Amino acid sequence: MNVIPLAQMLEFSQKGDERGHLVIVEGEKDIPFAIKRIFYIYGSDKDVIRGQHANKQSEFVLINVAGTSKVKVKDGKGNESIFCLNRPYTGVYLPRMVWKEMYDFSEDSVLLCVASTAYDPSEYIRNYDEFVRIISERTES
Ligand code: TYD
Repeated sequence: MNVIPLAQMLEFSQKGDERGHLVIVEGEKDIPFAIKRIFYIYGSDKDVIRGQHANKQSEFVLINVAGTSKVKVKDGKGNESIFCLNRPYTGVYLPRMVWKEMYDFSEDSVLLCVASTAYDPSEYIRNYDEFVRIISERTES
């Protein structure tokens, strides 16, 4: 059995006081890379599946700063994990070269995505069979 984690939940520092909550996400400290880009996803219906790609270069941390969603992560070798994003002070770290699908969005979901790279469409693998082929080639060599 492959026990190498595909991805990892992170819990961030909170500085709450009587004025409310403040959560800190500092690059290379609270997450394992320097932050190059953020984007966020909201207004996705419950039956929508987003993502459905792997990235050759980018690492990500995904945080539901409002609402909830789920993230399915696959390694292309038959292992998969599902992460529930349901607290604004937690996130999931996604390394390079994992297949990811975001789904089950609540109506109020705002999914913040923190990335290690600028956007480059050429580093995205959007075909699952191609992803599996690249993984198996890497495993063989
Ligand atoms: P897409 O990767 O399909 O979103 P998701 O993985 O969340 O389902 O991106 C949707 C569109 O936005 C697509 O046309 C590419 C564009 N885009 C950018 O221009 N820059 C970015 O940083 C990202 C993530 C997407």
